[in-house]
Amino acid sequence: MRYITIALAKGRLAKQSMKILNELGIRCDEMNDPDTRKLIFEDKEHGFRFFLAKANDVPTYVEYGAADIGIVGKDTIVEEARSLYEVLDLNLGKCRMCVAGPASAKESLKNGSLIRVATKYPRIAKDYFNNTKHQTVEIIKLNGSIELAPIVGLSEVIVDIVETGSTLRENGLEVLEEILPLSARVVVNRVSMKMEQERITKLITDMRRIVEESK
Ligand code: PRP
Repeated sequence: MRYITIALAKGRLAKQSMKILNELGIRCDEMNDPDTRKLIFEDKEHGFRFFLAKANDVPTYVEYGAADIGIVGKDTIVEEARSLYEVLDLNLGKCRMCVAGPASAKESLKNGSLIRVATKYPRIAKDYFNNTKHQTVEIIKLNGSIELAPIVGLSEVIVDIVETGSTLRENGLEVLEEILPLSARVVVNRVSMKMEQERITKLITDMRRIVEESK
């Protein structure tokens, strides 16, 4: 039996997704060993292989078929815009993609002025300002701690993920506009979906049942 390979976005999401798979009897206890340097893990009995990757790389592995399946946030799926099937919302890691900034920036979003927008998500930000708001902006790509940008004067606003809202609050910022609700999704390689249709469809159906039961 050919292994079905699953790419998981490193971090909390991977742990939560593995829990769903564990409930289906798919196990990979070696993955939980904090000292392991192994990169890829197998459940020989059920014919699955797993690896952890940076979230941004998960859609790439899936598009090229190096992974048949990926589990990753909707933010990354939209930003990477890879060719793949999105098949299931895991209802995990729920948060929102927002435009945020100081209250004083509200006006600049209304009057369509040329502002700077700092973000880790240039594609999402560009699409939102160009195609939804029809506002010309300058996008500045950052790699983390995006909330710093309006505080130190790099940009007027940011486009970033808001979960609890504490990071914004503690830095005197607020949500100004909502762009997109986010959560973890299962994605599938287009060819794998045809070649391994039976096993992949069964896995997705079983995962969907667990998700529904935990709602
Ligand atoms: C994310 C996001 C916000 C924060 C939102 O950052 O970019 O900064 O979490 O969460 P909250 O609304 O619950 O405060 P992350 O911790 O992933 O790190 P980063 O800032 O380096 O991107």
